[in-house]
Amino acid sequence: MTARHCTLILALGAGLGACDDGGEVAAPTGDWVLDVEQPLPVWLSETGLYTSLPKLTPAPGLIEYHPPHPLWSNGADKARLLYLPPGARIATAEDGGYRFPVGTVLAKNFSIEGVFGRRGQEVSIETRLLFHRAAGWTYAVYHWNLENSEAQLVMGDRWPERALDIEDATGTGRTDPYVIPSALDCKACHDTHRQAEPVIGVDPLNLDPMLAPHFDAPPAPVPLPAASEAEAAAMSYLVGNCVHCHHGREKGDNAAFSLLPEVLRQNTIDQPTASSASGSGIRVVPGDAEGSAIFQAVVRAREPGYAGDFKPMPPAGITRVDPAATEVLRAWIESLGEE
Ligand code: HEC
Ligand code: HEC
Repeated sequence: MTARHCTLILALGAGLGACDDGGEVAAPTGDWVLDVEQPLPVWLSETGLYTSLPKLTPAPGLIEYHPPHPLWSNGADKARLLYLPPGARIATAEDGGYRFPVGTVLAKNFSIEGVFGRRGQEVSIETRLLFHRAAGWTYAVYHWNLENSEAQLVMGDRWPERALDIEDATGTGRTDPYVIPSALDCKACHDTHRQAEPVIGVDPLNLDPMLAPHFDAPPAPVPLPAASEAEAAAMSYLVGNCVHCHHGREKGDNAAFSLLPEVLRQNTIDQPTASSASGSGIRVVPGDAEGSAIFQAVVRAREPGYAGDFKPMPPAGITRVDPAATEVLRAWIESLGEE
């Protein structure tokens, strides 16, 4: 793959760095990002998103952003970019949601330690794209090569999942699977989002203030209505990891009861679970994390040898328990016992 990539760049007559040693590959003429109606290039270096791989230096005009409430993805580091066509702005619609102009591109690169046999070293594994063509939003994913020098487009409407082994974060020597999702999985999370458009991490509840200049009118930030620091941390976690499905509105098979901040307390504290497909219990028992369905589903249900009947939450996208979830949910539920 690497060798073929070098030949391709030479044919285009673009500048070249080292190709076979995992070193830098200079960007070719890549300007796909400037006109997303074009077919997607086979190689990530030709998208025009980055001026150099594997450093992932954003090309001029691309905006780096950080959602205040990020999704946890098996411990991977994620770098996000937004591209808006020249002069175009994000609009706020009457429903309060955001609308992105045709030509918008969002990219998210995932890198993680301990894949491809590289102990203690972090390398890129996948780069996901979500972009707005005149005909609608489209998803794409590029899979990185073992040399970490280039990533290749995986084509098709139903591209297959790809599993990699990652070292167990707790140092047991065990490996966990890391699954690069298929096209159908993208939709399971992005199309069920409560906004009209599938962008999740640029949303009124989850907005990087650095993006404000890119709106047609100043966006109003929505603060978390938390009664304590522990509650704010739990709300932040749930906004980042749960509310793209748990928003309580009919939208797709994955939509579920609302964990949105404004209804979090009324929908969880002393409330019984409602799902027939998951375990039954009380969602949040004040003061008792282990006795709370939310804690069981997020933490215990994903542990090896779990014998209960809660479905692990979130149901897609991760294979490990997030240590931060354990801490944040426990602290919040225990703090409720002291009220
Ligand atoms: C398990 C749920 C889930 C799946 C599956 C998923 N995403 Fe996402 N994605 C999210 C969430 C939540 C965010 C926003 C928070 C963040 O960026 O950390 C996001 C963010 C993104 C972004 C940045 C723009 C945005 O919407 O915030 C891109 C690009 C993206 N995803 C592409 C994809 C593609 C392509 C696939 C399929 C290969 C995919 N995603 C599968 C949940 C998911
Ligand atoms: C990809 C969508 C999706 C995400 C993300 C997700 N859930 Fe769920 N969740 C569901 C669905 C759908 C159900 C209903 C179970 C069923 O019937 O299959 C459910 C059920 C549950 C239940 C048990 C049912 C009940 O009535 O209480 C709990 C608790 C729960 N989720 C908590 C969470 C938490 C906490 C998060 C975030 C850490 C989360 N979920 C993330 C889709 C999701």
